[in-house]
Amino acid sequence: MNEIKKTKIILDVDPGHDDAVAIMLAAKHPKIDLQAITVVAGNQTLEKTAKNAINVCSYLGINKVPVAAGMSRPMVREQVIADDIHGETGLDGPIFGETTVQLEQKHAVDLLIELLMGSNGDITLVPTAPLTNIGMAIRREPRIIPKIKQIVLMGGSYQLGNISPAAEFNIYADPEAAHVVFTCGRPIVMIGLDLTRQALVTKEVMDRIRTIGNNASRLFISLMEFFSHTQKEVFGWEAPPLHDPTTIAYLIDQSIIQTKPMNVQIELRSDASYGRTLCDYFGMLHKPANAEVAVKLDSNKFWNTVYETIKLYS
Ligand code: BDR
Ligand code: CA
Repeated sequence: MNEIKKTKIILDVDPGHDDAVAIMLAAKHPKIDLQAITVVAGNQTLEKTAKNAINVCSYLGINKVPVAAGMSRPMVREQVIADDIHGETGLDGPIFGETTVQLEQKHAVDLLIELLMGSNGDITLVPTAPLTNIGMAIRREPRIIPKIKQIVLMGGSYQLGNISPAAEFNIYADPEAAHVVFTCGRPIVMIGLDLTRQALVTKEVMDRIRTIGNNASRLFISLMEFFSHTQKEVFGWEAPPLHDPTTIAYLIDQSIIQTKPMNVQIELRSDASYGRTLCDYFGMLHKPANAEVAVKLDSNKFWNTVYETIKLYS
């Protein structure tokens, strides 16, 4: 019998409605080996994002994966949150019951370092949040750098931003940490808004996932009902882009996302463009590419993967 080749990952999140769906997929898909969930401040304060991660894991019965809370503040800039999109709790909408999962005593940065140092270089980091935990781990223990297989992150945009005209939220919320990550020298796949704005949660998507009728599909619907509402209010989207789960879909099946190598710099000095991912799409700077940047989504394959993975829950 052919064994499924699993990809070992550490998922770094700030749940967050779309982060919650990323957790849902990463914990269940047979091709993903979820080693840990590390949590950072982002969409809401760390206290809230950590509680949300615990609630999601408890609800979905994800009880064998360590969950650790990390950085509560960005490296340099003042804190920004996205309560306009994710609400007061960071995960408004679903009502969760008793928690059965607990946070690790360990700091997420320590857990990242421990897991990477103990590995043989086969762990992929998957940040779907501001890059504070990852940047801090790299600065604190640079020996982890060669141990990182690759970084597949949700963040940035080579076109328009969503927190400013120039910048995407995850990068804007900690541009200095993003700079550390984008200059670390390891392979990076940047899945930005250019791609995630092709992953739209349409009415057809909602109807199809609703028919599954299990706990996970109910959570997906409840999350997306709230998320659709705020995305419509803030951006006027008829169907909201589902950002974070695209990272997991890419790791399940690379043919879902087409990428293009680019040189990416994080704008740290400009006021209006602070946190912009300056992507040299046309290679005009003649600088080496430091990231594969996502450009095109196979939307059918993506939604089939989401659907089939949610179906695996009992
Ligand atoms: C990113 O920002 C957050 O609000 C989402 O969870 C996603 O990671 C999109 O810009
Ligand atoms: Ca996120």
